[in-house]
Amino acid sequence: MQIKDKVVVVTGGANGIGKALCQRFAVEGARTVVVADLDGDAATNVAKEIDGLALKVDVSKEADNLHLVSETIKAFGPIDLFCANAGIAGERGGAEVSNEAWQEIWDVNVMSHIYAARAVLPGMLEQGSGYLLHTSSAAGLLTQVEGAPYSVTKHAVVAFAEWLSITHGDAGIKVSCLCPQGVRTQMLLGVEGDRTSFLMKDAIEPETVADVVISGLAEERFLILPHPEVADYFSRKATDYDRWLRGMRRLSAQVRG
Ligand SMILES: NC(=O)c1ccc[n+]([C@@H]2O[C@H](COP(=O)([O-])OP(=O)(O)OC[C@H]3O[C@@H](n4cnc5c(N)ncnc54)[C@H](O)[C@@H]3O)[C@@H](O)[C@H]2O)c1
Repeated sequence: MQIKDKVVVVTGGANGIGKALCQRFAVEGARTVVVADLDGDAATNVAKEIDGLALKVDVSKEADNLHLVSETIKAFGPIDLFCANAGIAGERGGAEVSNEAWQEIWDVNVMSHIYAARAVLPGMLEQGSGYLLHTSSAAGLLTQVEGAPYSVTKHAVVAFAEWLSITHGDAGIKVSCLCPQGVRTQMLLGVEGDRTSFLMKDAIEPETVADVVISGLAEERFLILPHPEVADYFSRKATDYDRWLRGMRRLSAQVRG
């Protein structure tokens, strides 16, 4: 897909990767970019800069996704590209993480993608075209050694995206899944920019992610990997799962110090 003249929606568009996507889509000549975010003020700032539309939405709420889709269609017509990008890091840890924290990350990182597809797909299927870009993470293909809630929810995003591609690909629906490793955004760096993580070493800028997304969409590739080495790690995991687990145990021990 070429972005020129397209109607594009980006959730989590107020900051980080989503903001870089919005800015880049505007440069590519999108007809409009709808900047959807829980942080309404920051969304308004991005929308002003690119002459787009800001909508304050909580992607974990089905009604907000329906509102986002219907407002966009009312203002600009059919949606060509919907980027389900908003996400949270959640708490570190595993089974001991509280039910409330598991539920929160499940709703924001997974249900948001389901609600978005439920809201936007009927229109796309009717017009016989449309593109869904799901932001997962390298953690969705591999793991995030620091936190099970993030790993599990990002795996679920990959699973849902591939299911959508298999089920609706022949009906003209394109699906891509964006799986970066570390990206220098608030999620990785923290609000004060002082958080440390083993992912910092190879972290890239959100604008670089946007560059790779533009070429991934142009090629209509399912997996969009801003860190190309992730393809090798994923292939090694598939080829010898036990060897991969042994390596990940060593990484996990290093990260835990
Ligand atoms: N930064 C990384 O290292 C990294 C790596 C891989 C994948 N990702 C994924 O990329 C996506 C964007 O992350 P980022 O790094 O740009 O983070 P970020 O924190 O900079 O931006 C996330 C945006 O999502 C918004 N948001 C959070 N919860 C929301 C909700 N319930 N409803 C609507 N908006 C909400 C926030 O307000 C924020 O503007 C996430 O899905 C994240 O999991 C990030």
